[in-house]
Amino acid sequence: MSAPTAERPPEEVPVPAHVPADLVHRVDHHNDAVVKADPIGFMDELRERHRVFYSPVYEGFWAVTRYEDQRAVLQQPDLFSSSPVGLPGGPGYGGHKLLPIELDPPEHSKYRALLNPVFAPRRIREIEDSARRISNELIDQILESGESEFDFITAYAEIFPTRIFVDMMGLPMERYKEFLQWNNALLHSAQIGPGLEEKRQAGVAINQYLTDLIEERKKSLGDDLVSVLIESRLDGDRLTDDEILRTVFLLFMAGLDTVMSGHSWLWWHLARNPQHRHQITDDPSVIPTAIEELLRYYAFANDVRTVRSDLEFAGVQMRKGDRVWLHAGSAGRDPREFPNAHLVDLRRSPNRHLAFSAGPHRCAGSHLARLELRVTLEEWHKRIPNYRIPQGATVNMHGGGVSGLDTLPLEITTA
Ligand code: HEM
Repeated sequence: MSAPTAERPPEEVPVPAHVPADLVHRVDHHNDAVVKADPIGFMDELRERHRVFYSPVYEGFWAVTRYEDQRAVLQQPDLFSSSPVGLPGGPGYGGHKLLPIELDPPEHSKYRALLNPVFAPRRIREIEDSARRISNELIDQILESGESEFDFITAYAEIFPTRIFVDMMGLPMERYKEFLQWNNALLHSAQIGPGLEEKRQAGVAINQYLTDLIEERKKSLGDDLVSVLIESRLDGDRLTDDEILRTVFLLFMAGLDTVMSGHSWLWWHLARNPQHRHQITDDPSVIPTAIEELLRYYAFANDVRTVRSDLEFAGVQMRKGDRVWLHAGSAGRDPREFPNAHLVDLRRSPNRHLAFSAGPHRCAGSHLARLELRVTLEEWHKRIPNYRIPQGATVNMHGGGVSGLDTLPLEITTA
């Protein structure tokens, strides 16, 4: 699932006149070697040097680096629109806006309200037993293979959230590998060169699959998420097929890759920090705060906004249409918000990280994401308390909208 290497760097756009020359700093968050070497930490030095800088690649964008400024952008949708999503970004997939992420309030609130009950803590608790069962089945497979070395991503991290998602959506379990491939092509392929075509094809395939699925569900409703959306009412009317498609498409994009990446970052950390692993095995009650702390330190889902009208922000003039990139990990490691930000403290409190964003678009699936991470942390460490990255093993990482590890070789050890 590693991203194809880009054939050529993205073209630079001319720097607009309103951007001060000393704030221009070329960062390609998809392809730069420094990004791939450390997709989160590469921003540490830039954040301390620049409150805001401008990168002239893709469409050209402002990077707002610090915690308070990022929170301010996210909490002012009247100044910063969430459409289009992504950088580079287009008007959703198939030319339509993804729902609800590419709508601004007040329109956004109505569509978001449809999702809130489905992902409410009470509904999410109902899937806990089945998540534990899936987790243990995957751990069984790893232990029964008799191999002491394996790739955590392909053996666990990408399968676990996909199977949970497939269950929630009422999709055929036997096709989960296909969904995974589409997801990887859509979200991990390079933004330039052959990767773009791979991305396009995956988008078309998902679109077609979901269109057929909605058609099928309309004939026979179940208790899955697609059926819930079909039965939903918005201002008294049913959603159109197109609205359902644009919502389910977003869930497909938002619900798999993020949880997969979350697992990859957490296990990357725990494999290299036995003291934290031991803290978890010795006292599992630390797990909830450990999740928040590791999400802060490895905040991997980056947000993008578009300036709605000319304004001054963080000491610079921004123009209508300027794009704004918010690297969540940069905010998560900002020492202005987090004392000893460079240290991982599994009991850190308070911990108001931005890993799930802030403001109206704050992650709708955060309870589900937390449940998935908690279940794996609990089940895994009961059965595989000790593991490490084998000596000399290669670990591949990717940057982009959601950064993560492509491969994470692990070796089970006895201590
Ligand atoms: C650790 C895992 C996850 C992380 C770090 C994460 C992160 C995020 C972030 C940062 C946003 C806001 C984007 C923005 O403001 O532009 C977001 C939005 C969203 N997420 Fe998650 N997410 C995760 C898991 C999930 C899951 C499991 C689902 C559902 C299956 C989900 C569904 C959504 C939806 C629907 C939105 C759009 C909300 C809106 O526009 O109102 N996410 N997520």
